[in-house]
Amino acid sequence: MKEAINQSRLPTPKTIFLSLIILSLFILIFLSLQSHNSLQKPISTNPTHGLKIRPGYTSYDTYIHHQLQKTTNPKLRKIWTTRDWARKIRVFQRFFNRLKQEKLLSTTSKALCIGARVGQEVEALKRVGVNNSIGLDLVPYPPNVIKGDFHYQPFDDETFDFEFSNVFDHALYPDKFVGEIQRTLKIGGICVLHVAVSRRSDKYSANDLYSVEPLKMLFNGSELVRSRKVDGFGLDTEVVFRKKKS
Ligand SMILES: C[S@@+](CC[C@H](N)C(=O)[O-])C[C@H]1O[C@@H](n2cnc3c(N)ncnc32)[C@H](O)[C@@H]1O
Repeated sequence: MKEAINQSRLPTPKTIFLSLIILSLFILIFLSLQSHNSLQKPISTNPTHGLKIRPGYTSYDTYIHHQLQKTTNPKLRKIWTTRDWARKIRVFQRFFNRLKQEKLLSTTSKALCIGARVGQEVEALKRVGVNNSIGLDLVPYPPNVIKGDFHYQPFDDETFDFEFSNVFDHALYPDKFVGEIQRTLKIGGICVLHVAVSRRSDKYSANDLYSVEPLKMLFNGSELVRSRKVDGFGLDTEVVFRKKKS
């Protein structure tokens, strides 16, 4: 009798089968919700008027992978370090000489170039006498460029007197890009950005800027020194900020 009761409590193959179906359905619903969420989750930036993050980067890894595709291309690296090398350095030297004349840069400045790739801007700084200069890029190019992500600069607070970058458009998180500059600049330090305002940048850009206003908002710990039109490798505006006392 006892045995008969126990047997009647044992699940039948039909019950097991149904339970497995229900469990699988739960797992499927859970997984599809998870992947839907990760695709829909907006990449965290402060959407500021006049600055748009390009859609299409479903994750940070996708963004980094996209940036690396161009920067690690061996054929392009060959061109950048041979045919384009001297020409680009000459143009950067002109920009930096002007900044020196304006007393925004000096030979004693400790300088950082953000997104420096093979480091022509670092070389140009050294040629105008700013010897204490270094570049930062996802791909290192020793000795002038070290490896690092500009969203998380590998430097202590208040390290640099001068920071230059012509890659603001490559920032997936413009607020972090600027936040890191303001963190690593000394008080009174100068940041010079070359940006594209009136034309769209290339397919590796992560954001589009339509005026200087979003930069003024992002550089909330700095004062705008000036903004002027330039002709800098497809970038048309030079914006200069000075870090204020906190
Ligand atoms: C248009 S290139 C500019 C290179 C250089 N400034 C020049 O004028 O020759 C953009 C550079 O930004 C770098 N970059 C993109 N995203 C980055 C990130 N998150 N952190 C650091 N560098 C990044 C790329 O690897 C690439 O070398």
